Amino acid sequence: MSISWMPQSWTPQATDDGSFTFFSDAFGEAFHSTKGARAEAFEKFVAATDLVRRARGDRLCLLDVCYGLGYNTAAALETIWHLNPACQVEVYGLELDLTVPQAAAQPSILQGWSEPVQTILLALAQTQAYQGPNLMAHLLIGDARQTIQSLAALPVQADAILFDPFSPRRCPQLWTVEFFQQVARCLALGGTLATYSRAASVRTALLQAGLSVGSIPLTPGEALPHEWSQGTVAGFPGTTLPPLTQMEQEHLHTRAAIPYRDPTLCDLPEQILERHAQEQATTALESTSSWRRRWQLH
Ligand SMILES: C[S@@+](CC[C@H](N)C(=O)[O-])C[C@H]1O[C@@H](n2cnc3c(N)ncnc32)[C@H](O)[C@@H]1O
Repeated sequence: MSISWMPQSWTPQATDDGSFTFFSDAFGEAFHSTKGARAEAFEKFVAATDLVRRARGDRLCLLDVCYGLGYNTAAALETIWHLNPACQVEVYGLELDLTVPQAAAQPSILQGWSEPVQTILLALAQTQAYQGPNLMAHLLIGDARQTIQSLAALPVQADAILFDPFSPRRCPQLWTVEFFQQVARCLALGGTLATYSRAASVRTALLQAGLSVGSIPLTPGEALPHEWSQGTVAGFPGTTLPPLTQMEQEHLHTRAAIPYRDPTLCDLPEQILERHAQEQATTALESTSSWRRRWQLH
């Protein structure tokens, strides 16, 4: 695995809700859950950042970390304007590979969104910017570890951060304490970051970046026996978040909770994984398998 990537041709793959995803050869992972790419955008990102409540306000700022096909931005805009068409929205998307949003700018993938949102996704893919009566949007192409720093300097203060990199094992550089510190600089007081990851290492990294964390609870009836959460929400201390269960809190005292580190924000993934493995090998923390046994997670 390496940060440089080979251009790939993107073939749309249908997910269970009829929306499409891509598979990345470089990261060895699909962009979305097979259960439904579009559903994931609404359930894990829009709902978890409380956009229905936030849309009552006059203006909102969104930060979409790992823009990809733009589903999270699209689902957020559909939700906000359905409730409050006058809401003025600012969107910043961060994406490494421009060929992804460009490949997603085709009718079969865009068709699930309203016409105004399709126009916005097309403009972002073609010119990386869109300006309209109720939206100013920018797509910053490059390694998010660098582009985030230019946003923090503006400064951008996002009410909702839609945090959607590939998984920590595949893309550790975007789940480190140091990267979350930069992301936290772009979070408004009272704002919420949401991510699909429920990993203890991710939650510890968010805590060490100065944020409080909460859980995205499972949808009743849909959970598998070994699952305990749909993801993580974070905000500055004092933000109301769904609390972690006792089981999740204890997870933060196990080896799995050792966070990834990238002190200069430019290490290779291999270096970050190696540093992490060394720290795990020498820690006195409880083993994660003993935590699993205690909570009967098989
Ligand atoms: C899981 S996909 C995101 C899916 C996306 N949110 C969507 O709705 O389609 C991860 C995305 O992160 C991008 N990516 C990978 N490494 C990155 C980096 N260092 N900086 C910015 N984006 C990166 C990939 O190109 C990919 O588009």
